[in-house]
Amino acid sequence: MRGMHRLRRLLGLVPLEAPPREGLDSKYERRSPHAQNALDLISGWTGSFPGALGLEAGNLALHADQRLHWALDQYGLVEGASVLELGPLEGGHSALLEARGAESVLAIEANKKAYLKCLIAKEIMELKRCRFLLGDFEKYLHETDTEFDIVLASGVLYHMQNPVHVLDRIGRRCQTMILWTHYFDPEIMHENETRRGAFLGEIKTLEHDGQSYRLYQRGYHEAWHADSYCGGPDDTHYWMERPDIIDLCERNGFNDIRVAFEDLDGPNGPSCLFYMTKQEGG
Ligand SMILES: C[S@@+](CC[C@H](N)C(=O)[O-])C[C@H]1O[C@@H](n2cnc3c(N)ncnc32)[C@H](O)[C@@H]1O
Repeated sequence: MRGMHRLRRLLGLVPLEAPPREGLDSKYERRSPHAQNALDLISGWTGSFPGALGLEAGNLALHADQRLHWALDQYGLVEGASVLELGPLEGGHSALLEARGAESVLAIEANKKAYLKCLIAKEIMELKRCRFLLGDFEKYLHETDTEFDIVLASGVLYHMQNPVHVLDRIGRRCQTMILWTHYFDPEIMHENETRRGAFLGEIKTLEHDGQSYRLYQRGYHEAWHADSYCGGPDDTHYWMERPDIIDLCERNGFNDIRVAFEDLDGPNGPSCLFYMTKQEGG
């Protein structure tokens, strides 16, 4: 067999050297040291990096996200605040939190590739007060009782199997919650509406602390094969209605609830940013 291989090489039927492979498939980086080399290790970046760094990654400037700036403006003095961030993806929001003065950011990411991207981003943006943990934040919320000044839950609630329990647990861990999320609206998303197509038909009612919450089952339809996929670990997940989100949070003591960036026309469904805080004597 090896003799045959040698003969084929002599005849020029197989290349003498394997072509260079990309990313982690090859062992050594032969280019001059540069932050871009670290970005090139992992394909499919969603976020961009601050322009001054001159790096090529994704297009979404999460490190300068106006939604998060708005929410932190509502909070006031961020210096000294402890933050729990759920699903940091590539650390863009983590960098913004640090830049706005957060004392500590604990960011929990379950997607292994995204976690490695967070570590690369941490090095590139020289983040000193952010710590990234690889794992399931639902388990973290269930198993620990650490409290934070702020919990940032952006782009995660609508990926959950049980968003009611997740929202409830977040509410018990913080004074302020910053929640950007999609929600289900039965009036806008009527039976024939395009965005309804991803929903699987099951609508269930969950009883929680004596209240009923409606949950709408949705599927990714195996979109996780795509390089750009950044949803949750389960193919099916449930969306809540907007009034139910507010009701549950009010029951957990959030008495100052502000809403911004309301978007009814998003391609996946309506969304908005909630800034919620527990005001003493409110
Ligand atoms: C849509 S992205 C949102 C990223 C970012 N927070 C933002 O607002 O743009 C959802 C992120 O949450 C992560 N994620 C989803 N479910 C998770 C879980 N149970 N535990 C930890 N991370 C999770 C995903 O891997 C992904 O990075």
